[in-house]
Amino acid sequence: SVIRSNKFKGAVSWYTVDLDLPPRKRWSAVITDKKTDLVNMIEAIKELADALVPSGKLIEMVDIALPLMVDTLPSPFNEEIRGIAAASGVPLGEVVLFNIFYEVFTVCTSIVAEDKKGNLIHGRNLDFGLFMGWDVKNKSWIISEKLKPLVVNLDFKRNNQTVFKSTNFAGYVGMLTGIKPNIFTLTMNERFSLDGGYIGILEWILGQRDGMWMSFLTRSVLENATSYEEAKSRLAQTKLLAPAYFILGGNSTGQGCIITRSRLLSIDILEIDLKLGRWYVLETNYDHWKDPFFLDDRRTPGMKCMNQTTQTNLSVKTMYDVLSTKPVLNKLTTYTTLMQVSQGKLESYIRDCPNPCMPW
Ligand SMILES: *[C@@H]1O[C@H](CO)[C@@H](O)[C@H](O)[C@H]1NC(C)=O
Ligand SMILES: *[C@@H]1O[C@H](CO)[C@@H](O)[C@H](O)[C@H]1NC(C)=O
Ligand SMILES: *[C@@H]1O[C@H](CO)[C@@H](O)[C@H](O)[C@H]1NC(C)=O
Ligand SMILES: *[C@@H]1O[C@H](CO)[C@@H](O)[C@H](O)[C@H]1NC(C)=O
Ligand SMILES: *[C@@H]1O[C@H](CO)[C@@H](O)[C@H](O)[C@H]1NC(C)=O
Ligand SMILES: *[C@@H]1O[C@H](CO)[C@@H](O)[C@H](O)[C@H]1NC(C)=O
Repeated sequence: SVIRSNKFKGAVSWYTVDLDLPPRKRWSAVITDKKTDLVNMIEAIKELADALVPSGKLIEMVDIALPLMVDTLPSPFNEEIRGIAAASGVPLGEVVLFNIFYEVFTVCTSIVAEDKKGNLIHGRNLDFGLFMGWDVKNKSWIISEKLKPLVVNLDFKRNNQTVFKSTNFAGYVGMLTGIKPNIFTLTMNERFSLDGGYIGILEWILGQRDGMWMSFLTRSVLENATSYEEAKSRLAQTKLLAPAYFILGGNSTGQGCIITRSRLLSIDILEIDLKLGRWYVLETNYDHWKDPFFLDDRRTPGMKCMNQTTQTNLSVKTMYDVLSTKPVLNKLTTYTTLMQVSQGKLESYIRDCPNPCMPW
């Protein structure tokens, strides 16, 4: 069932991040506004950690160990994280933890589709908070709910000109969703795998630091790549800390792809191919050549909706409808973002999935 009512659309506010400022100062405006929500979110994480390991030992470790880790992170991320800790009053180790979180626990749906005129539309649902405290009374995930007030739209500027735009969580310096106007759009989804995020992060802590954090790579590509092709080759070739899916859209016909990554290299690139009738590519959290996990099939309903929509009727509005179809929309969905590269437009909505609704 599709929820068409605007009642479920929550507005997201815009902030400017000035890249000409020193990294420590860039997030001041965002953090000043979102400080309370960030503190609430961190408190909720602590409660969950305490439930897992009683006596506060886990957070004690985070407070002691993770501040040291910030020095190992590359520029400008290390300095930006320090700035966020200073502006929010949240201990540095806990801000680091908040930034590591998304590298490991994000489930999502992303679609890049081409309309009959050759315009590319890129949509995504960001689902987060799986297994992090189910609130029985509210039928909701505790962390997913706490994240919703942290959703912001960001306009990154240099010389007072937009470099790229993004939907993000306040306090987080990597990127999961973004647009470089007139050039490309990019989203990242987690790829579960046995040599997954934990191992790479552990290696990082132990001193083997030749892989890149995934959401730091997406941020770096959004900030500094100047074409679809450059973005594609950096996303395909940079060594990573964990496997991932990158979903990339360009600015002209045929430019849309899913890059399936292992830590070392690109395993597969699936591209839009109009000659084969493939006018869109859709990625959830499973390799496209394999069946999705049977308890978590968001791909089949998503594709069914896209097929019913047809290329002729593709628009930002119909893309929103596809992303509002259960279980593509579920209790983990924090926001929906829609991007139109040719108009340089990004819009996002905080989501709510009314009951009955799948937990994921
Ligand atoms: C649960 O719902 C109640 C009432 O609607 C609300 O006050 C409370 O904040 C909700 N809790 C969470 C974790 O969302
Ligand atoms: C930056 O651009 C905005 C609108 O594009 C303009 O109103 C403002 O005056 C500019 N600021 C500076 C410092 O140039
Ligand atoms: C983008 O490039 C500039 C100039 O080389 C560099 O200072 C900056 O750190 C880069 N940004 C990211 C996020 O990697
Ligand atoms: C796409 O980007 C390229 C490189 O920046 C540019 O030359 C071209 O005009 C753009 N195409 C469209 C359709 O905007
Ligand atoms: C959607 O259409 C494509 C292309 O015709 C087809 O391969 C796919 O099986 C369809 N999927 C669903 C779920 O309808
Ligand atoms: C596509 O849009 C046209 C015109 O609005 C409408 O007549 C048609 O039924 C739509 N097709 C589908 C599959 O929704």
